[in-house]
Amino acid sequence: MSAPSTVLVTGGAGFIGSHACVELLDHGYELIVVDDFSNSTPEAFARVERIAGRFVGAVYELDICDRHALSAVFDRHCVDAVVHFAARKSLGPSAQKPVAYYDTNVGGTTTLLRAMHEHGVHQLVFSSSCSVYGEAGPGALDESTPARPTNPYAISKWICEQILSDVCRHRPEYTVMCLRYFNPAGAHPSGLLGEDPRGEPDNLMPYLAQVAVGRRERLRVFGTDYPTRDGTAIRDYIHVMDTVEAHRVALDHLADAPGMHIFNLGLGKGSSVLEVVDAFSRASGRTIPYEAAPRRPGDVTELVADATAVARAWAWHPTRDLDDMCRDAWRFQRHNPNGYTGSARRTKGGH
Ligand code: NAD
Ligand code: WQD
Repeated sequence: MSAPSTVLVTGGAGFIGSHACVELLDHGYELIVVDDFSNSTPEAFARVERIAGRFVGAVYELDICDRHALSAVFDRHCVDAVVHFAARKSLGPSAQKPVAYYDTNVGGTTTLLRAMHEHGVHQLVFSSSCSVYGEAGPGALDESTPARPTNPYAISKWICEQILSDVCRHRPEYTVMCLRYFNPAGAHPSGLLGEDPRGEPDNLMPYLAQVAVGRRERLRVFGTDYPTRDGTAIRDYIHVMDTVEAHRVALDHLADAPGMHIFNLGLGKGSSVLEVVDAFSRASGRTIPYEAAPRRPGDVTELVADATAVARAWAWHPTRDLDDMCRDAWRFQRHNPNGYTGSARRTKGGH
């Protein structure tokens, strides 16, 4: 079987999905994109098209849980493979709205799997998360580390992994690449595409960018009493361009062997919150005011990938470092201080 050429991207307007659209268009893929724009705007597609110099393809505004609408997309297009980004992604809010998280993340995935099954599509790249490991560190975590998810978001990803694993176990025609991202950050180097969260950012890098550009007064450093080198929590940040490059390489390898393949996506190098603040200050040339704040409920001390499995399997590894992430995130924020604005919404049903 050859590499897929027409790819359905769910959640393609989001942070990682929009960068993936650029990467896949740049490599000649035909795309069909679905997104309900619950955490994104169609303006992302205008940016993708400017960068790629190509139309994104058919875009459908729909809820991934809408079985009939999703099935109609498969009826209309000949899909070779699916890259499934669409999900609710915030750890904290998932504890306030667990049912909504399970509905979208688990229900969305089973709805997608049903539509794929009905249309003879058996190749999937799935967005999983290092949050499935929970408080498993210190030390680099490989894919055999037992999962100990600590919040409904992480549990929803873990449930999806179990479902996908069962599908592959009982249906040998399926291939699933399950990618456990550590902390994707940064932006496209053009400065046109980046992370544009709605409301107050949950994540460190977009928060820092908004402080640096003057949209927010200061960063709160959640926890300065962790047992780490400077007392702040350690994460493995990976450039969003490396993250999406891995998806393109995953698509190339879908034909290698059926079954479920799980890979960490990280640099294999941890950075503390204060190290990220320092890197962002250097990249932006601005002082970033910050203050110590209590630990954020549910946060863990350290999450760092053992990223050797993906390197071994695909001879691929990330090439960009934390300074690249900060430089690119800052370029996006500087050029788009208020994020994507003035977008014209696309109509339901595609174009
Ligand atoms: P994002 O919120 O920017 O993108 C998700 C996209 O899915 C958005 O465009 C949103 O509008 C869409 N979406 C949400 N619910 C939908 C629904 N019911 N129907 C259709 N579309 C829907 O998030 P992201 O950072 O780009 O994350 C992409 C994927 O990667 C998610 O599955 C997330 O859980 C996973 N992930 C993200 C990170 C991270 O740090 N960003 C880390 C690990 C895993
Ligand atoms: C990073 C560090 C915060 C904001 C999780 C998942 C990961 C991915 C992103 C989905 C932590 C600290 C943050 C702030 C801070 N998502 N921080 N002040 O929670 O490590 O990662 O979400 O799967 O896979 O594990 O990411 O960017 O929110 O936080 O001090 O304003 O920065 O406490 O130590 P997190 P983050």
